[in-house]
Amino acid sequence: MLTQKQIAARVLVQEHLAHKHLRTQLQQVDNSKVTKQRIKKLLKQNNATLVAHYYTDAVIQKLAEETGGCVADSLEMARFGSQSTASTLVVAGVKFMGETAKILNPEKRILMPTLDATCSLDIGCPPKEFAKFCDTYPDHVVVVYANTSTAVKARADWVVTSGIALQVIEHLVDQDKSIVWGPDQHLGRYINEKTGANMVLWPGSCIVHEEFKVHGINQLREVYPDAAILVHPESSAAMVSIADCVGSTTQLIKAAKEMPNQHFIVATDRGIFYKMQQAAPNKVLLEAPTRGHGATCRSCAHCPWMAMNDLQKLEQVLTHGGSEIHIAPDLLDSARKPLQRLFDFIACH
Ligand code: 13P
Ligand code: SF4
Repeated sequence: MLTQKQIAARVLVQEHLAHKHLRTQLQQVDNSKVTKQRIKKLLKQNNATLVAHYYTDAVIQKLAEETGGCVADSLEMARFGSQSTASTLVVAGVKFMGETAKILNPEKRILMPTLDATCSLDIGCPPKEFAKFCDTYPDHVVVVYANTSTAVKARADWVVTSGIALQVIEHLVDQDKSIVWGPDQHLGRYINEKTGANMVLWPGSCIVHEEFKVHGINQLREVYPDAAILVHPESSAAMVSIADCVGSTTQLIKAAKEMPNQHFIVATDRGIFYKMQQAAPNKVLLEAPTRGHGATCRSCAHCPWMAMNDLQKLEQVLTHGGSEIHIAPDLLDSARKPLQRLFDFIACH
């Protein structure tokens, strides 16, 4: 006999699963054959390759796979772009990813389905204010997350992504450095707790990851007691405290594949389910509820800016150009230095 609490939890799960986001997305993959064919032809004509983030819709990720492009996290997208022989990179993701591609490949044409796809971390870290903040700590090393504008990168000593941030901060701690960290306060706090670094944090946050709530996840776990909880470190401290694995997008996909659990509650953008399910075909992946009991939306964990990348805009930009990344050469040079420092670090670690 189920208790009232268990019945409530089951209702929550059934409602939650009824969203069937992934199934809808995969249907779109099949419904869009003609447009996809046209895009494939345009990619060839433009000597272009498609570089997509895990958070874009499945239809975009599948197209990148089918055309020899790449589906990856922000670090790997940057690496792939630099190694590609294509003269045009079409970056499906958010604007900082297109800008990173341009900074690393100034000779290439960088197109995006739309330049309106931004990021709450980028918006929440205006370059002038951030520079002022840094100026108040003149003896600190400035480390910024890749989710920033080119101007913020240009003010930094290091640019990192969530996949490598911990190692870089450990390296700086070994050198006794104090650190200005920006803009994601949650990732900053997580790294600070892990490393014991002397860090001051810019108060930015991701509007998607901040929505996950412990209460809703506990309810889901009552129905799936064996489920492992996977959490991206842009989430709150409370979320991190209940996680079985905290990691970047690539690290979470690896965890779903390698951990022995059959069920996973995934607290990151639902776009990741496409690659995560490929990596772990026999596992059951559950979207982490974004709010607790009584809320109207229990499953809206999709970045509104990542969602702007669609086939129509992709076809449009390949046909007419338009959404191209341009950066002033001096700014580009300044922003390349902290990024290059990261790649040099990776090469020797
Ligand atoms: P990754 O660096 O793991 O790709 O994440 C980027 C991002 O925007 C997370 O919200
Ligand atoms: Fe930015 Fe969050 Fe969207 Fe990632 S999920 S691009 S951090 S708003």
